[in-house]
Amino acid sequence: MAIRNIVKLGDDILRKVCRSQLEFDERLGQILDDMAETMYKAEGVGLAAPQVGILRRYCVVDVGDGLIELVNPVIESEKGKQTGEEGCLSIPDRFETVTRPMTVTVRAQDRSGKSFKLKAEGFKARALCHEIDHLDGILYIDRVERG
Ligand code: NI
Repeated sequence: MAIRNIVKLGDDILRKVCRSQLEFDERLGQILDDMAETMYKAEGVGLAAPQVGILRRYCVVDVGDGLIELVNPVIESEKGKQTGEEGCLSIPDRFETVTRPMTVTVRAQDRSGKSFKLKAEGFKARALCHEIDHLDGILYIDRVERG
């Protein structure tokens, strides 16, 4: 495992739409391991592949109840609304208020390619939405409501 460099705001990589991950091989597993290690070291709750310079659709999330690896994640449904503070490892020392769904159902694949469904609410739903946005080049600061 290795710590990867986290791409920061201003780098074009963060604005690209990522491509689907089609190979479920050892390399994918290694990158996911590195991403988790990098996220924990930076004390974040999520990290998406473009944040380590890889334009592929996968991310890791851990809001304190265990690591989740999501490959090719898709939000299948969302319900309700929550408004709260959000930050991003690519945008250090900045937090802003963003409205997100209260509950989401996400379908994704694991590192071996097996499909799974995940329902999350509250902060975990927020983290999932934030990371999945990264895969489309969207940053939370794009969603801040300007009063
Ligand atoms: Ni982020």
